[in-house]
Amino acid sequence: MTQLPAAPKQPEQPAQGALKPSDSSRALYGGKSTRRITVRDIAAAKERGEKWPMLTAYDALTASVFDEAGIPVMLVGDSAGNCHLGYETTVPVTLDEMTMLSAAVVRGTRRALIVGDLPFGSYQEGPVQALRSATRLVKEAGVGAVKLEGGERSHRQIELLVESGIPVMAHIGLTPQSVNAMGYRVQGRGEEAAAQLLRDAKAVQDAGAFAVVLELVPAELAAEVTRVLHIPTVGIGAGPETDAQVLVWTDMLGLTGGRVPKFVKQYADLREVMAGAARSFAEDVIGGTFPQKEHSVH
Ligand code: KIV
Repeated sequence: MTQLPAAPKQPEQPAQGALKPSDSSRALYGGKSTRRITVRDIAAAKERGEKWPMLTAYDALTASVFDEAGIPVMLVGDSAGNCHLGYETTVPVTLDEMTMLSAAVVRGTRRALIVGDLPFGSYQEGPVQALRSATRLVKEAGVGAVKLEGGERSHRQIELLVESGIPVMAHIGLTPQSVNAMGYRVQGRGEEAAAQLLRDAKAVQDAGAFAVVLELVPAELAAEVTRVLHIPTVGIGAGPETDAQVLVWTDMLGLTGGRVPKFVKQYADLREVMAGAARSFAEDVIGGTFPQKEHSVH
């Protein structure tokens, strides 16, 4: 059972997997159940051995739904590229776009820790460029932390951001910004690749990251990384043993068209719900059954 701070409104019977805050969490956080979750809460959750969920969000309305549902951490991922902005990959996403989307998610939420993704090209030049980019997400959008891809190769960037007071979530394993170099393949398979993944995980922890995403790595390896690290691991396609799990919201709610990865569990079929509603609306308009008297003003 998670003890992250309580959501403002909890259903009497929490849905399966919803947060069930305990009295001790209220005591721990001085009863301020509506305050924002911070990276310190995340560290405390690892110490207590609690698992937590993270979802992506790209707009204020969707984020407000997840916030009210008690999702404690939201990622404004650069998956917005393919899931929200209509690009084929995350590569074209710009810092301006991430700043605009992150600001909307911050405005739509009261409680979740909002993590803004640094897009491709906004931190690879080095620590100073990373700091300039992260500063925009913190100052202009109001995020509580940033995420960037890379293990050993990104440790200098992480160090400077953390020294500057910006919490960093790292991201290793499959790193979609490198799709042109690595494709979308399972990472960490085989002895050498597994050893490299462990080195990457330790490098980001040593650099000061508060958490690390493990994307598309064998479950056994993700479990080992989770045991070895003192910062939380956030799995996506990394098996059940990580400290947290993240899903892309449009995949998880069945809005994404076409194939979704095998590791996605689909909790709803929004695409069908929305298409059905749109078809009904169209039929009503064409058939003259909408609007009725009750939808009209006189
Ligand atoms: O951009 C994103 O949504 C991500 C998650 C898949 C972790 O990086």
